[in-house]
Formats: sequence, C-alpha cells, structure tokens
Amino acid sequence: MASDDQMDLFNLAGIAPTADPAPPSNFDPELIPTDVKVPIPPGTYSSMEQISLHCNRCHRCELGENRTNAVVGRGNANAPILIVGEGPGQTEDETGKAFVGKAGQLLDKILASVEITEEDVFISNIVKCRPPGNRTPTVQEMDACRPYLMEQIRMIDPKIILLMGAASVRGLTGDKRGITKIRGQWLEWDNRLCMPMLHPAYLLRNPSREKGSPKWLTWQDVQTVRSKLDEIRQEG
Ligand code: URA
Ligand code: URA
Repeated sequence: MASDDQMDLFNLAGIAPTADPAPPSNFDPELIPTDVKVPIPPGTYSSMEQISLHCNRCHRCELGENRTNAVVGRGNANAPILIVGEGPGQTEDETGKAFVGKAGQLLDKILASVEITEEDVFISNIVKCRPPGNRTPTVQEMDACRPYLMEQIRMIDPKIILLMGAASVRGLTGDKRGITKIRGQWLEWDNRLCMPMLHPAYLLRNPSREKGSPKWLTWQDVQTVRSKLDEIRQEG
C-alpha cells in the first residue's frame, strides 16, 4: 500500500465511527445470568444484541420459565428519549418486539401526534419477560431485571425518560406515589429528566377525550415532552 493511502486510514476527523465499538473484554456470551446472584456490573454489555442474547437465556427470576421471547426494546439505541413500559404483553412475548400490541400502537400514535419519530426514541420495559396474564411485575422480578435496564440507560444515555404507568415509575426510581398524582411533572433521576405518564393500556380502557380525561392529560404530557426535546436540541 502506498504510504499516502496508509495515512488516509488515519484521516478519520469528522467521520463518525459506524461499526459497533469492540465488545468489552469481560463479555462472555456463555456467562448467562442463570441466577439473581450472578452480578451484572456496569460495562458488561456494549450492544442491545448482547443484552438480548443474555435475556433470552436468563433465569434471574421465574419469568424466564414462561417466556417465548425476551423483549429488550426497539427504536434508536442513540435516541434522546427512552420510553420505559412495565413488561411485555402477549404480542410482545410472541414477536420479541416492545410495545407492538394494541397499547404499543396507541403509544406510537401518541408520539406521532407531536412528531416524535422512531429515530427519537428507544422503547423498552422494566422487565424483559412477560408476566403471566399481564400481571404487574413483582418487586423481586423488577430487582432481578434492573441491571439490564441500567445497562441500556448507560448505553443510550437518554436526556429524557418517559415512565409509562405506576410500575415503571416504581421500578426505575423507587417512587411509590400514585401515577395520577405525579404524571405530567418532571422528576429528576440520575441527572435525567423523567416524565411519569399514564400507561397506554389504561388509556385504552378510558377512551374519553374530554378535558381532564386520561387521554386529554396524556396529550398535555406529550406536548410537555415535545417542548423539552426542542429545548434540549436548541442547547445542542
Ligand atoms: N405494555 C407494556 O408495558 N410494555 C409493552 O411492551 C407492551 C405493553
Ligand atoms: N394506574 C396505573 O398503574 N397506570 C396508569 O396509567 C393508570 C393507573
């Protein structure tokens, strides 16, 4: 190779790296967390694919016994907004994709109403495996699964986190207050802005759009999120 060509290989200024960074040397795909006692320290994973690989073989809690697919998330892994639901439902368990059932379709519409696109978000859940009959995940299950979410937050580094429903608020921040009390107001957690919102499944059961209704309140909240996203982008 001519030396000019060789030097060109070093000329990466202004070019964003396209390949995934090298996996951390401590990632061992064989080291599946089969027990909640297996630690998952920060820096264990360097891609969503690695997290997915482990989640699909994980038995840190009993939800692993009934899953078809673990659901790690969908969207842009460099998004400014992370959306955290409660846990996969039936459609999500069957497809391995987050928020693709009825609640997910409504979530997409809520985001589209303020022109938040799939590029702007990564959509995940507190627990990655479906709780039987869509019951609320237990504290033990949320604790067992939390390291995966913490790794996702570390990798995505979102400025804004939307917490869908009471279990998501409790699962991430430990805040036990009722969702109807705290929705619509920014919470600070880990130097990030968190917006507690009503869960879209709850909106499906409460279809009224009248002023003060759950859907109307959510419309207010998603506009608040849109404004904050614009503000953050202007700050650069
Ligand atoms: N409800 C959730 O909380 N998460 C999903 O992924 C689907 C439905
Ligand atoms: N209760 C919840 O847990 N979530 C909602 O969105 C509304 C009521």
